[in-house]
Amino acid sequence: MNQSEAKERIDKLRKEIEEHNRRYYVLNQPVISDFEFDLLMNELKTLEEKFPEFMVEWSPTQKVGSDITREFRQFDHTYPMLSLSNTYSYEELRDFDNRVQKTVEGPLEYVCELKFDGASISITYINGIMARALTRGDGTKGDDVTVNIKTIKSIPWSITRDGIPSEFIVRGEVLMPRAVFESLNKERSKEGLNLFANPRNAASGTLKLLDQSAVASRKLDCMFYFLLGENLPHKTHYDNLMQASDWGFKVDGSITVCRNMDEVIGFIESWENKREGLPFGTDGVVIKVNSLDQQRELGVTAKSPRWAVAYKYKAEQAVTRLKSISYQVGRTGNITPVANLEPVFLAGTTVKRASLHNADQIFLLDLHVDDMVYVEKGGEIIPKIVGVDYASRKEGSKAVKFIETCPECGTPLVRTEGESNHFCPNYLHCPPQIRGRIEHFVSRRAMDIEGLGEETVDMLFSKGLIRNVADLYDLKPEQLIILERMGEKSATNILNSIKGSINVPYPRVLFALGIRHVGETVAKTITARFRSLNELMNANIDTLTAVREIGPKIASSIVAYFNDAENQEIIRRLRSAGLKLESEKAEVPAGNALSGKVIVISGVFQRHSRDEYRELIEKNGGKNSSSISGNTSLILAGDNMGPSKKAKADELGISMINEDEFLRLIGKE
Ligand code: IVH
Repeated sequence: MNQSEAKERIDKLRKEIEEHNRRYYVLNQPVISDFEFDLLMNELKTLEEKFPEFMVEWSPTQKVGSDITREFRQFDHTYPMLSLSNTYSYEELRDFDNRVQKTVEGPLEYVCELKFDGASISITYINGIMARALTRGDGTKGDDVTVNIKTIKSIPWSITRDGIPSEFIVRGEVLMPRAVFESLNKERSKEGLNLFANPRNAASGTLKLLDQSAVASRKLDCMFYFLLGENLPHKTHYDNLMQASDWGFKVDGSITVCRNMDEVIGFIESWENKREGLPFGTDGVVIKVNSLDQQRELGVTAKSPRWAVAYKYKAEQAVTRLKSISYQVGRTGNITPVANLEPVFLAGTTVKRASLHNADQIFLLDLHVDDMVYVEKGGEIIPKIVGVDYASRKEGSKAVKFIETCPECGTPLVRTEGESNHFCPNYLHCPPQIRGRIEHFVSRRAMDIEGLGEETVDMLFSKGLIRNVADLYDLKPEQLIILERMGEKSATNILNSIKGSINVPYPRVLFALGIRHVGETVAKTITARFRSLNELMNANIDTLTAVREIGPKIASSIVAYFNDAENQEIIRRLRSAGLKLESEKAEVPAGNALSGKVIVISGVFQRHSRDEYRELIEKNGGKNSSSISGNTSLILAGDNMGPSKKAKADELGISMINEDEFLRLIGKE
């Protein structure tokens, strides 16, 4: 390779790696496996070593990927959060051992730990109290997700033990149990939402949610693997971890001290199959030098410590032929390409189909029909195509071209800028969209209409008895009874359940309408701000995007939905059927939690109006005041609080709490 070819390849690799980093850390939607990512990275590293004239400081080889998002406050890590260098063979492990042996003196021990596959977290405890939990971020600073970490039941908020250091940090991996991941994805698929690719993405996506009750419902867990600080209780990593376990942190029981590489390899082999039986995904083993003095001697590089290395298990793969691609149309019109494969046996089952996510992935893989493709299952429920054997590609084979029209109704597909999915815009008349919308409307978490399964909805639709959700409320017993396998009793039950659904509260009704991008959480956020459907129908993009968590994508989807004449007619009919289209007046809990406190309200709020907050203060024994003075006990601070008010509060040392904290204070949460 000459210089200009090398430069071209280096530039291309950097761009590609940056894009994969963005997909992995920010979008939580990787399209290639870790193994393939490492191959790209290694190629870039080798080229940069061979052609040092093209080295730049900002090369991805010099950086740790970043998960930083806009919504959270960032703080510096007291100790940088490094990553680990990966190895895939015992030979590479022995090289690591040789390097270590050359540097350190005296007897050497390694600690072997399973490498849990989730999102890393660093939690600082001061005087035994959880002070701050940060994501890895870019390794130097991370997002403050303390409120979310506090929803994880197995992580202690405080440690009441003698002899704990006044300040220490524990690091671990936030994990989503496989079983929780599978049911979460099932729910998401019913709601027409993008699926999480694996439990790791689901865990890190969940950590970044702004709604703590949604985080709590996702049942995350955390396994700790690192204790840091100035006055640690012990001189070895193993003893410190055992100490952390004694303080109440969850530390995996498999951790083993090994005296040499043969024992390390024994550990790796003993877990290769056994790990499949664990509730959490693991993707390798981490090998660490046990002695902290020896760790210090070995030191760190810009990216990773020299005293630790990861051995990655290779995900089980199979090679098979890509026969064709089919396209599924979801409830919200999302098009999902699915690969039809020559059946192949992989990790215990026969695989005939694999997910492809979207057009980008087809493009990145440069798929051709009849290609021999690598299929991988690791961690995911649906296998995916992770690579192509380009060498065996038949001459003249055709590149897969993403469809341009809907396979169900023929409407030209649309892809909004910045989104990875194509969708069919024929919202009102594309059959799977209508059926899907009705199925979603009657589902348990929406209107909870019993007895109307997929099959019955399909029958009612194909007989022309229902064309939209409002038609459900006009169904007559005689129309139902003529359906196959429908007795009088079931028909009556269904009609009673439809009738009963008029009591479902407004947030669930909004969710049930199936507006694109309006899932359960978004519906709750919106109905807290727009207390009636009428109010919401009059909202515009600006008023909608003023609500925290509502971005332009959700806002324009809502506006488009209510601008449509047919939707307006459906709403009119639902209203006359008696559905609840407004919030019940907020129940105001009374108490004396704020007794004697003078509270100033400042800024813009998401969950209640300022009037409602005034009422809440008074009902709980507090006094509301409009200006900050020496008498002020507390400030209830919303978004965009004026800078002069903030300066005054700081000057007088008055505590400020946000609305979540306020509601917790009065016991409303
Ligand atoms: S030690 C400086 N131990 O793997 C070394 N990491 O690629 C810090 N991980 O960011 C990491 N299990 O999120 C360590 N037993 C374990 C681990 C582990 C999973 C993750 C961690 C880290 C990443 C490194």
